[in-house]
Amino acid sequence: MQVAKARDVGVNSIVLFPKVPDALKTPTGDEAYNDYGLVPRTIRMLKDKFPGLVIYTDVALDPYSSDGHDGIVREDGVIMNDETVHQLCKQAVAQARAGADVVSPSDMMDGRVGAIRGALDDAGFQHVLIMSYTAKYASSFYGPFREALDSNPRFGGKNGSYQMNPANYREALVEVHEDESEGADILLVKPGLPYLHIIRQIRDNSPLPIAAYQVSGEYSMIKAGGILKMIDEEKVMMESLLCLRRAGADIILTYFALQAARCLCGEKR
Ligand code: PBG
Repeated sequence: MQVAKARDVGVNSIVLFPKVPDALKTPTGDEAYNDYGLVPRTIRMLKDKFPGLVIYTDVALDPYSSDGHDGIVREDGVIMNDETVHQLCKQAVAQARAGADVVSPSDMMDGRVGAIRGALDDAGFQHVLIMSYTAKYASSFYGPFREALDSNPRFGGKNGSYQMNPANYREALVEVHEDESEGADILLVKPGLPYLHIIRQIRDNSPLPIAAYQVSGEYSMIKAGGILKMIDEEKVMMESLLCLRRAGADIILTYFALQAARCLCGEKR
């Protein structure tokens, strides 16, 4: 199992992203807070087997949405912010109830960090942390992930409404102040490498730990380059991670976690 392999090389934190059967997807994504759904069941199973494992979860409706969006969509295409936040609170509490250590809202709805903090506290989960996707850009680097999950939006993009425009730089600071005041514990920037200066900007403007997410497109490009023998995959992988660290990331989410940890342990592939 991947988690046992990861722990063998010192990786003790994981993030769970579900692939949900189409039959369970609805416009309001109610499967997201089913206590017996895939994510809560997986958390319980993992905590049972590896009590010391640190489990991060994703809080967003897209894997459960028949529209492929992170939020509930009105007939005219408008994303319903507050109705979505209501669902996200239930989703986060269900994940905490199952044993999640850190819930990570990746949806970019307004006001969701404060609302989730309140819902967790009310349910007795004051100790559960929130890693907020503070600066999540509407990026084409998410392509392979959406392909794998079959979560491409059925219509419209995710920009203009909730994800940030890749041309915006200062807007990240507005999001930082909102997330800090709403009680976020960790701030995340996504994607990673093309947005290094956003990581640095946030590092220089917030005392909170910063996470960087090296996304599926970044990972795939390095992999493909390696397979085509155009680049030295291992060296480029380690350099890309080093650059995220240099920019100011305290935490890195990467599909290279195992490979990089093995490399750091001196193991040859
Ligand atoms: C959305 C979500 C996305 C990813 C994970 N969760 C982005 C999106 O589809 O808009 C992408 C991660 C990746 O590309 O590795 N909640």
